Amino acid sequence: MPFDRGRLAALLAREAEAFAAARPRSRALFERAGGALVGGVPMPWMMRWAGGFPVWAREASGTRIVDVDGHEYVDLCLGDTGAMPGHGPAAVVEAVREQLGRGITTMLPTEDAIRVGEELARRFGVPRWLFTLTATDANRTALRLARQLTGRPLVLVYSYCYHGSVDEAFAVAGEDGLTHAREGNVGPAVDPAQTTRAIEFNDPAALEAALSDGLVACVLAEPAMTNMGIVLPDDGYHEALRELTRAAGTLLIIDETHTFSAGPGGCTAAWGLEPDMLTIGKAIGSGIPSGALGLSGAVADALLADPDADYEDTGGVGGTLAGNALSAAAMRATLEQVLTEEAFAHTVPLAQRFAAGVQGVIDAHGLPWHVTRLGCRAEYGFSAPPPRNGSVAYAAADHELERYLHLHALNRGVMITPFHNMALMAPATSEADVDRHTEVFGEAVADLVV
Ligand SMILES: Cc1ncc(COP(=O)(O)O)c(C=O)c1O
Repeated sequence: MPFDRGRLAALLAREAEAFAAARPRSRALFERAGGALVGGVPMPWMMRWAGGFPVWAREASGTRIVDVDGHEYVDLCLGDTGAMPGHGPAAVVEAVREQLGRGITTMLPTEDAIRVGEELARRFGVPRWLFTLTATDANRTALRLARQLTGRPLVLVYSYCYHGSVDEAFAVAGEDGLTHAREGNVGPAVDPAQTTRAIEFNDPAALEAALSDGLVACVLAEPAMTNMGIVLPDDGYHEALRELTRAAGTLLIIDETHTFSAGPGGCTAAWGLEPDMLTIGKAIGSGIPSGALGLSGAVADALLADPDADYEDTGGVGGTLAGNALSAAAMRATLEQVLTEEAFAHTVPLAQRFAAGVQGVIDAHGLPWHVTRLGCRAEYGFSAPPPRNGSVAYAAADHELERYLHLHALNRGVMITPFHNMALMAPATSEADVDRHTEVFGEAVADLVV
């Protein structure tokens, strides 16, 4: 143990006290909200912010959030990717404002949807698109299509993956070689062991074995895992994944919701992946609810030629707000004017700078920690070397340490992503923002390891 746990507990108490003392308005709103909102927050996961209650936001602009107590934060969380374009990018605000005056949702298509489909196809090399409101919904739809088209029952995922609130994905590989529900899984309709095979990431032999009986309809995969720290694929893993899925007649769904950080066409373009389906959400609409599902030509043709499936009414795929005019306007503006090639040319070096800064602190103190990076996204974790799969990453989590580092940063005006240690760069992020994090992180670590 490179530091003393008692010291960590004392520092955490110090930061928690300072946090609460400086945020009477946030605290009062949280207490009042307890009467109207479950757990005093709009969604239960917001109870888990490091301070014991969340900072309540007054406004957000570019990479700054100002809370109701008047504190300003450099936002490196960016809504855990929904605000990767920055808060309220001017082009999106203008497009959305214009669209608000022309109608929000009509159940009729608008031309923006075509422009978005064309642009997504150009970037990701996946030709046909349909829209949802969230990435979760894009994933749920993809799983239904995969089972329908293959006539197979099972979905394969990686242990400790996250693809939104998708029933089939809350499964882990047990040491007994079987698939089990992930701890804490809330009210599953059926045991995920019945719907899912879970294996470890970066294990082609396990993949081959899991696909061998021909029961797996699809693999639902992030190209690099991003919800248990960033876990990068080994060299050759994606080639094996594509080869093995093709050989088994299993469809490959790549979820680019977070890995869009890798560049304008996500990992799919950056690494030359060839998914049968591709899902994305969050950042593509700058946070205006938007999700998209891309299909290969073969999958799209098979879907349209299938007489047994009702895709047009109550077959379980769709939603009246999906593809609405407002989302389409937001996606178009985001893709055409904000998350451009030039934007990534600015944000990727910033994430490199972030990673170098954090690594410098780790090295200076000889800590057995790591930093990983994927394009404009970087994350530190409390193990070395970096984990190669979700279970190892899960085992390396240290919630008390994480809480201390996050609260220490929040108290000094820097916000990083809760539940993990992720920092994301937006077009409006500056080198000074990144350096501020490095400075604060350095102070927090120095206080801890003295
Ligand atoms: C990889 C991935 N896919 C899908 C989702 C679901 O996104 P949403 O909650 O916006 O539906 C998430 C959310 O964090 C995610 O990390």
